[in-house]
Amino acid sequence: MKRSTLCLTVCLAVFAAIHQSNLQAAQPPNRPNNASQARVELDAVTDARALPDGIQIRAGEAQLRITALREDIVRVRVSPNAQLPEDASWAVLPEARTKTVAVQAISDAAAVGFRTPKLDVRVERKPLRLVVRDTAGHVICADALGRPTAFKLGGFTVAKQMPDDEQFYGLGDKTGLFNRRDQAYTLWNTDVGPQEATDPLYKSIPFFLAITHDRSYGLFLDNTWRTWFDFGKTARDAYTFGSEGGPLDYYVIYGPTPKQVVEGYAYLTGKPPLPPMWALGFQQSRYSYSPESQVRDVANRLRADKIPSDVLYLDIDYQYRNRPFTVDPDRFPNFPGLVADLKKQHFHLVTITDLHIAHIANQGYMPYDTGHAGDNFVKNPDGSEFVGVVWPGPAVFPDFTREKTRAWWGGLYKQFAQDGVSGFWNDMNEPSVFDGPGKTMPLDTVHRIEEPGFRTRTATHAEIHNIVGMENERATYDGLLKLRPDERPFVLTRATYAGGQRFGFTWTGDNSSTWNHLRLATQMLLNLGMSGISMVGDDIGGFNGSPQPDLLTKWIEMGAFNPMYRDHSTIGSLPQEVWVHGPQQEAIRRRYIDTRYRLLPYIYTLAEEASRTGLPLVRPLFMEFPGYYDSADSEFLLGRSLLVAPPSLPDMLDDYAVSYPPGPWYDFWTGEKMPAQRTGPNIVQVAETVSQGQSLSQFPEPYTIHPTLETLPVYVRGGSVIPMQPLVQSTDETPNGPLELRVYPGPQCEGSLYLDDGHTFRYKQGEYLRQSFTCRAEAKAVTLAFGAREGSYAPWWKSIEVVVYGWQSEHAEVKLSGSTEALKTTYDAKAHALHVVIPDVAGKQELQVGR
Ligand code: GLC
Repeated sequence: MKRSTLCLTVCLAVFAAIHQSNLQAAQPPNRPNNASQARVELDAVTDARALPDGIQIRAGEAQLRITALREDIVRVRVSPNAQLPEDASWAVLPEARTKTVAVQAISDAAAVGFRTPKLDVRVERKPLRLVVRDTAGHVICADALGRPTAFKLGGFTVAKQMPDDEQFYGLGDKTGLFNRRDQAYTLWNTDVGPQEATDPLYKSIPFFLAITHDRSYGLFLDNTWRTWFDFGKTARDAYTFGSEGGPLDYYVIYGPTPKQVVEGYAYLTGKPPLPPMWALGFQQSRYSYSPESQVRDVANRLRADKIPSDVLYLDIDYQYRNRPFTVDPDRFPNFPGLVADLKKQHFHLVTITDLHIAHIANQGYMPYDTGHAGDNFVKNPDGSEFVGVVWPGPAVFPDFTREKTRAWWGGLYKQFAQDGVSGFWNDMNEPSVFDGPGKTMPLDTVHRIEEPGFRTRTATHAEIHNIVGMENERATYDGLLKLRPDERPFVLTRATYAGGQRFGFTWTGDNSSTWNHLRLATQMLLNLGMSGISMVGDDIGGFNGSPQPDLLTKWIEMGAFNPMYRDHSTIGSLPQEVWVHGPQQEAIRRRYIDTRYRLLPYIYTLAEEASRTGLPLVRPLFMEFPGYYDSADSEFLLGRSLLVAPPSLPDMLDDYAVSYPPGPWYDFWTGEKMPAQRTGPNIVQVAETVSQGQSLSQFPEPYTIHPTLETLPVYVRGGSVIPMQPLVQSTDETPNGPLELRVYPGPQCEGSLYLDDGHTFRYKQGEYLRQSFTCRAEAKAVTLAFGAREGSYAPWWKSIEVVVYGWQSEHAEVKLSGSTEALKTTYDAKAHALHVVIPDVAGKQELQVGR
């Protein structure tokens, strides 16, 4: 062969190979095999078959299967061809996914579908359009006209009608605006600090709530691939969502209230486990406390300064050369001794254990050697172990979609568990790979799905990426349960997917020490909560940078009312502990941390509620007051009763108006009843009264607040009974004194209390204490009714101090039902609060307060 011919042949072959690989790179790998590369649109129903729980439809080549799991939850599965995708899920619990309800079939000239006692589900025949209505005929969720569901290149797009008054929330930790309307988002777990509107971020929760003034529903797209949601950024009247691959499998969850939607979503994807109580205490962290003496100094100072606290963290520097599951022998020469000493000071230690395992073979690094021997690491397409650079340098990554790998990972905690480390922090699990494309693994790295409920097969990183964090968290949680079967695991993860709430806590990642990030935190925590992830927090004081004194103080004030309360900062920043800005700032901060500990009975009760219902601890106002959207983005509720109302910009110095939902409200700090207002929905009541002949001037101006450093405005909903406890320095300490029950009269007055040993599972055998309270207010009387106490857990208190707010006179006759004895009271005239101490009440009984 002549040289030129040879060159031509070789060059053409090389060109063809390059061209081919470019083509491959341009398309996401691992398209589902059955996916057609041509565009498929669902234009018209060509065949339909009623099912006991739904309907199966053909639209040309495409299939559509719509079933009712409950009267108010519908699942929609669509395929561009005859084969529906595998019926498996990382997010939806098998018991929920396999539930069905019988439906009543509908078939007429225009549509086919079915009815449940709550929903009317129709697929219009031509053009094909799914329309879900309530039984009164109101459209809840409908495909957009003229924009049929379409498949192309293995991915798909769905378009839904978007009424003018529909608002969108959820999607996990996204920053930007609180309300997702007019924004578009990508779901692809990414290691990037939450700058003001960075997207994507660490978590992928493809679930959102759509809310109008009188109706709401949720939509959960169960697809682990890179998905996207566009709530009107590119179209005025339709929102769209889709994915670059994987199944089109989504659930419509009907409310009508947002609370019902969130509960329905938790029914599908699970609830957070009841956490150890210490995890709700104050947590002090930093990247990095090292050497050991620094950790001891922090512990000693927290106790010396009487800053109530429960948890200390060790970040990567406690490890030997940043290698997970090691301890640096020079800087931490007596690790078990340190853990034991901290325990004596009532501190729980949480250590970081990132998922990347240092790539060091045969040098005595057990996690690599055992992991390699068990074939536990993610692979390159050629079958070799994938190696990427993270904190320890070159590292390999456990293949968490294998049940066996998760079991091996869980076992790595054995020594730490024996040493008495209380909890573990799984960071960098997007997964973050410093030298990888897009700071993660190449999309064609190979994972193996070896998992009950799934077909055993390999899957590319494009499919698995978004669940790596959740499966890492799950492996840790399950491993700890195995190692310490009677201790509630505490796992903190940065990345997760829908359903991650089942395995632990999460935080919002690397924020910055700016006022704007303090503002963003509230919106992120609220949206996470609405996305099923209740146990959430942010880095108090900001991770990057160093907060000004006032900023750290405000952050500590706000954090006291968030589910997780952790001060964390980066290496090289100025120290950020409570005391660093001098005694005046420290005193304010201490007061809020004290308040947090005084409120623990209320907060722990909320955590228990979350574990049963999936309802978040922090809630937007519209969750408790459906239809109430007038509040500033900065306002939120802790549980049903506490309203936290900072200014919309937290560093604002101007006076501002607080918008309360209807009903009486009380100032949490002073106990005073707040005046009625002309703002919010109250304006409607006011307008009605005015039209009936009363004058507007009799209603006070909106209540304005003059912001000050030392006071975070917090209000209590009239109609609440709030349990509180005497101050303790840690949750290990038994409170000394009476249980306090604060009674704030108002409509639907209620409250409850849940308690147990705070760390084991004995509550499952009945060792808990649950009691609910109601109250009734008449003109000159208030009655507090105690429900019968459930469970066998013995309370720490012998007496109860009942405080009745809004009480206008120092005269009071107070009796317990069944007794004629008049009880002694004291009166706080400034707070209009009547105090009475009674012996503990375990059974059904009433406390009657009259004048
Ligand atoms: C990541 C985490 C941060 C941690 C640091 C070092 O940036 O988000 O919280 O301190 O890694 O481990």
